Amino acid sequence: MEKIRLDNVSFAYSQQKSMIPVISGVDLSVAAGEFVTIIGPSGCGKSTILSLLSGLNSPSEGDILIDGEAIRGTGTERGVVFQHYSLFPWMSARKNIIFGLRQLKPRRSHKELAEITDRYLSLVGLDDVGDKYPNQLSGGMQQRVAIARAFAMDSDILLMDEPFSAVDAKNKMGLQGLLLDLWNSGPRKKTVVFITHDVDEAILLSDRIVVMSACTKGIKEIIRVNFNRPRNRSALIKTPEYAAMRHMLINLLFDDLIEEVAV
Ligand SMILES: Nc1ncnc2c1ncn2[C@@H]1O[C@H](COP(=O)(O)OP(=O)(O)OP(=O)(O)O)[C@@H](O)[C@H]1O
Ligand SMILES: [Mg+2]
Repeated sequence: MEKIRLDNVSFAYSQQKSMIPVISGVDLSVAAGEFVTIIGPSGCGKSTILSLLSGLNSPSEGDILIDGEAIRGTGTERGVVFQHYSLFPWMSARKNIIFGLRQLKPRRSHKELAEITDRYLSLVGLDDVGDKYPNQLSGGMQQRVAIARAFAMDSDILLMDEPFSAVDAKNKMGLQGLLLDLWNSGPRKKTVVFITHDVDEAILLSDRIVVMSACTKGIKEIIRVNFNRPRNRSALIKTPEYAAMRHMLINLLFDDLIEEVAV
């Protein structure tokens, strides 16, 4: 069943009375429960697609549908981790998460919401930071608070823009595992749209990888990742199939950079 559909979506930013096209004619269908990752060179429009999916921006042309309905603004069925964490600086880590949860569960008491919050803070490895403010936390810790906030919302759809980019290698592995657990938990799988620059992360996590092109402002190729789950990182990377897929993805990204330089 289709969960998310981008139908001929284009978007342009307005700048000094002119429109700067960023993405053009993007078609993509994401099935319910699917894990789709978007990769592509810096500036190709990945975060723009995520902001359209989150409802913070609207397409200049085309439609974005969720469960067959055009989206109108933001919605609690979509949990989002933005590229720049976007925590409220005047709220503690705990309050940042409770604030989001309260919109979703208005009848729950503060104590219940605080318990859910502390559980998710602990899951992302931040047991003792609930009372700290964003400016008292490192970039990687702020990113983990934003991840805890999105996970705690337990929404059908998770939109994540380079969520582990500021996190150290050990925490990153733990968070990737946690993400896969949460994706699979509950009565039905969540639908995930995930953005990364990390090809290995894309292969480890995804059902499909969408490679974007900065030159055409659209999708260059979509690769299906058929490796059995659960995927064992150290065993998988030793296989020739993994090496071939990694090579293909890097070539797709690298081709684009060469085309860009040649323009
Ligand atoms: N608010 C804005 N106003 C004008 N142009 C913008 C704005 N935000 C982004 N852009 C431009 O849109 C293009 C796509 O940006 P976007 O942030 O979607 O890229 P990205 O693929 O996420 O890049 P990265 O991998 O570096 O995060 C870039 O050329 C960028 O300069
Ligand atoms: Mg981006």
